[in-house]
Amino acid sequence: MELGAVIVAFKLGILGLGTVGCGTVQLLTDSDGRHPLLEEIEIYRVGVRSLDKPREVKLPKEVVTTDLEAIVTDPEIDIIVEVMGGLEPARELMLKAIRNGKHIVTANKAAISRFGEELYTAANQAGVYVMLEASVGGGIPVIQPLKQSLSVNRIQAVTGIINGTTNYILTRMQDEGSSFDDVLVDAQELGYAEADPTADVEGLDAADKISILASIAFDRGVNREDVYCEGIRQISKTDIEYAQKLGFVIKLLAIAKKVNLTSLSVRVHPTLVPSEHPLASIHGVNNAVFVEGEPIGQVMFFGPGAGAGATASAVSSDILNLVASLISLPESNSKDSKYKISNLDPLLASFHQGYCQLAPREELVTRFYARFLTKDQPGVIGKLGTCFGKHGVSLESVVQTGFQEKLAEIVVVTHDVSEGSFHQALEEIRTLEAIDSIPSLLRVL
Ligand code: HSE
Repeated sequence: MELGAVIVAFKLGILGLGTVGCGTVQLLTDSDGRHPLLEEIEIYRVGVRSLDKPREVKLPKEVVTTDLEAIVTDPEIDIIVEVMGGLEPARELMLKAIRNGKHIVTANKAAISRFGEELYTAANQAGVYVMLEASVGGGIPVIQPLKQSLSVNRIQAVTGIINGTTNYILTRMQDEGSSFDDVLVDAQELGYAEADPTADVEGLDAADKISILASIAFDRGVNREDVYCEGIRQISKTDIEYAQKLGFVIKLLAIAKKVNLTSLSVRVHPTLVPSEHPLASIHGVNNAVFVEGEPIGQVMFFGPGAGAGATASAVSSDILNLVASLISLPESNSKDSKYKISNLDPLLASFHQGYCQLAPREELVTRFYARFLTKDQPGVIGKLGTCFGKHGVSLESVVQTGFQEKLAEIVVVTHDVSEGSFHQALEEIRTLEAIDSIPSLLRVL
């Protein structure tokens, strides 16, 4: 289709004018040298909480309003761009917009990971699209590649570094030998971590994002509340040093993996990553998503996982994808049509075919790293080995190099073992008279 033949502008209602909203307005209004379809987009209304807040973008007075409800019900508007974040009223506004025949572009990982099913069902009934490229990995194209370019693959695993704040903290701890608390304070001063860092450092943000990636990669919804989640607060300089000596780096990984024909494991936890693995080389605030499938093998998507420009790039690419799809409809040449689509493009639409079954945690198989503080006396390593052996836990390496106060520090890396067997062995080890404590337990990729 010749672009010159298009005679209508597509009207956007943008909800939210924070970092991502401002970045999106800036990008959409600076079209020189970008895709010509940007010319077909009009920023028609922008909804904000307060009109008085100073902002980086200047918009005509009549475009900005605090009446968000009026935007999602406005018959003139074709596409709602939800960049306000949070659960409510974002969910309610998106549902209302869908019921009013509007397509949705959203960056809201929290809402999509919890209410994806409800939003997709409503959208599919209404014949509109829900586009969510910006909800995971900021500017990295990963949602559409999973839905489209990799759609014929049987996906085996999706493993991501999908939280920039924690990757920044771990990278600095590793490079400088600093403690978690010191780097966190610095990261907050530099604006890389929020004043309340809970969602990032406890792994909750990454859990939202891996739920979304898993539901797309495996075509079924993931119940967000069932995602196992451990953060990075307990990671110590000692563990980073041991990991390095053993040939690993510690990363907060979000993993969605096929366990068997019917079930998946979806989890977030700090993980020892072999230093030669592609994910080990992801530094600072960057994100990466490593996909394993058949027949593709291994593919990694890498780039900036947050920030105004990067996230605006993802939001705007969704808007362009929608506009491209809408202008290919015969009725789009008529200003009267509302572009409701009776047959949604299945590679663009969002569907869940029921929910994934998540495997019980004790059945998951992984390698473990464990650090023990023990009395420095003969036979302790032997007793540890015996306990592990009794529960079928095979050890890959055992090292005793350090002391803390008068206690010996013993580090063990296991071969693959079920979480259940490993924890049974630990229960028995804790009862040994020579064992003082087990300060760290981490999984190994
Ligand atoms: N807080 C997120 C991160 C960015 O640190 O990666 C937004 O998803």
